Amino acid sequence: MSSQSKPRILFRREEIETTVKRLAVEIKKDYQGKHPLLIGILKGSFVFMADLIRLLNFPLEVEFIRISSYGGNKESSGRIKVVQGLRSPIKERDILVIEDIVDSGLTISFLLDYLWQRKPASLKLCALTDKPSRRQVPVTIDYLGFTVPNEFIVGYGMDWDEKLRYLPDICFVEVED
Ligand code: PRP
Repeated sequence: MSSQSKPRILFRREEIETTVKRLAVEIKKDYQGKHPLLIGILKGSFVFMADLIRLLNFPLEVEFIRISSYGGNKESSGRIKVVQGLRSPIKERDILVIEDIVDSGLTISFLLDYLWQRKPASLKLCALTDKPSRRQVPVTIDYLGFTVPNEFIVGYGMDWDEKLRYLPDICFVEVED
């Protein structure tokens, strides 16, 4: 049975708010006159997405995909499954994918391939956090909130073994197996 240390703050809620506002400004500028579909990747993105869309006061739609790769482990298994797929067509739509973290990059590159096959007009990625030290496959992040160190990141929607998603700050924990 593994355990985790007390969470330590990496980015406080005020800094998150400033960063989400900055991302909203960038996104609004690029999507002027468009009607994009924002696709949140469950579960980790739900807090970020909820804050972000309330700052994007232009016509947009929201969808979710649930992908699973980690199970209860801290390492990506590399075996990625679509647990809940799209419920609306994305052909010729402008798609903006919303992720909480890009780590190895395996999840998002699988997902971007999955979406490209459905022939959207455009496909971009907005990630709250990026952990480039762990990258296994190249990923282009069009809108990035924070670069994070090689620690286990929790809070603001992100979990350790389904716990700690409720923390309002972005934190890290040490994990013992
Ligand atoms: C996390 C996160 C990303 C993925 C990133 O999801 O939300 O989707 O891992 O890791 P990668 O770049 O190494 O593939 P997780 O499978 O933990 O599910 P969750 O969003 O439900 O917490």
